[in-house]
Amino acid sequence: MDKLDSRFIFSAAMVTEQAAIAAYDWIGRGEKEEADQAAVTAMRAGFNAIHMRGRVVIGEGERDEAPMLYIGEEVGTGEGPQIDIALDPLEGTTPTAKGMNNAIAVLALAPRGGLLHAPDTYMQKIAVGPGLPKGVVDLDASIADNLHSLAKAKRVAVKNLTVCVLERPRHEDVVEQIRSAGARVSFITDGDVAGVINTTNPSTGIDLYIGSGGAPEGVLAAAALRCIGGQMQGRLIFRNDDERTRATRLGITDFDRKYDRDDLASGESIVFAATGVTQGNLLDGVTVSDGVARTHTLIMNTIDCAWRRMRARFPRDTSKG
Ligand code: FBP
Repeated sequence: MDKLDSRFIFSAAMVTEQAAIAAYDWIGRGEKEEADQAAVTAMRAGFNAIHMRGRVVIGEGERDEAPMLYIGEEVGTGEGPQIDIALDPLEGTTPTAKGMNNAIAVLALAPRGGLLHAPDTYMQKIAVGPGLPKGVVDLDASIADNLHSLAKAKRVAVKNLTVCVLERPRHEDVVEQIRSAGARVSFITDGDVAGVINTTNPSTGIDLYIGSGGAPEGVLAAAALRCIGGQMQGRLIFRNDDERTRATRLGITDFDRKYDRDDLASGESIVFAATGVTQGNLLDGVTVSDGVARTHTLIMNTIDCAWRRMRARFPRDTSKG
């Protein structure tokens, strides 16, 4: 099986940088499809410059609904290692269109077969950062039990724990349970890839991520945790037969399966890159001034296991409309 080497660390970052800069033009314009399309086009062009036989496994949708970066699309120069790609050129289309925080361009790479072919359904997720006993939280335990177990492992009182949750009506019960157990809730309006990653960084104050969000984002978050450490579990949520059919087409047979982090991102080597589009607590957003576009990128990988934050400057003509 082909392996990722260190060349891919930098290549991945170059791709998310270009997607983020392309999305920048659409920040605050109320046009989320256009913002997404700009990021998709730039990301695809970036991939096609990489020496690889790339295959999109988590993409913009199925072939009949997405013209570019659809599931199964082959990208890259067509020579070199066989790489599977999970991508979200614009994770946070709504915050981008509304000029709000926490939109990123994000991708993960693994050798062929190293990322779950997740359907575009919801996924129930739970995640904590590194350095905790294995199984400290579990998707099938009650929220109160998870919080008590986590508090014990972190040697703090439950009231000192903060849980990140996507602010959605479907999470009202989850929020109620977290607060009843005594912990705090920190809402995000969008962007649960960053929500999960924030559990790994003590400076965010986030101890636990709980809730349902996109299954593709679940695979991206698991890939990030493979690089940086931390635990995650996910279970697909099916709302109708069409979603079950989509999952079956992708090879999923057990609809109730509880996936661990390493089931979601099993690759022997993984590269994860994310560039901020709008300002966020994980990454700074793109800024443009004095003829220069500036980007902020997080790159993690299992090759040298480094966690890099990279700032880049790109010449940009700001005199034209
Ligand atoms: P988009 O990039 O498609 O806008 O998704 C953003 C996001 O917030 C994800 O991070 C999250 O997994 C998903 O949407 C949640 O879906 P929903 O908005 O339907 O609750």
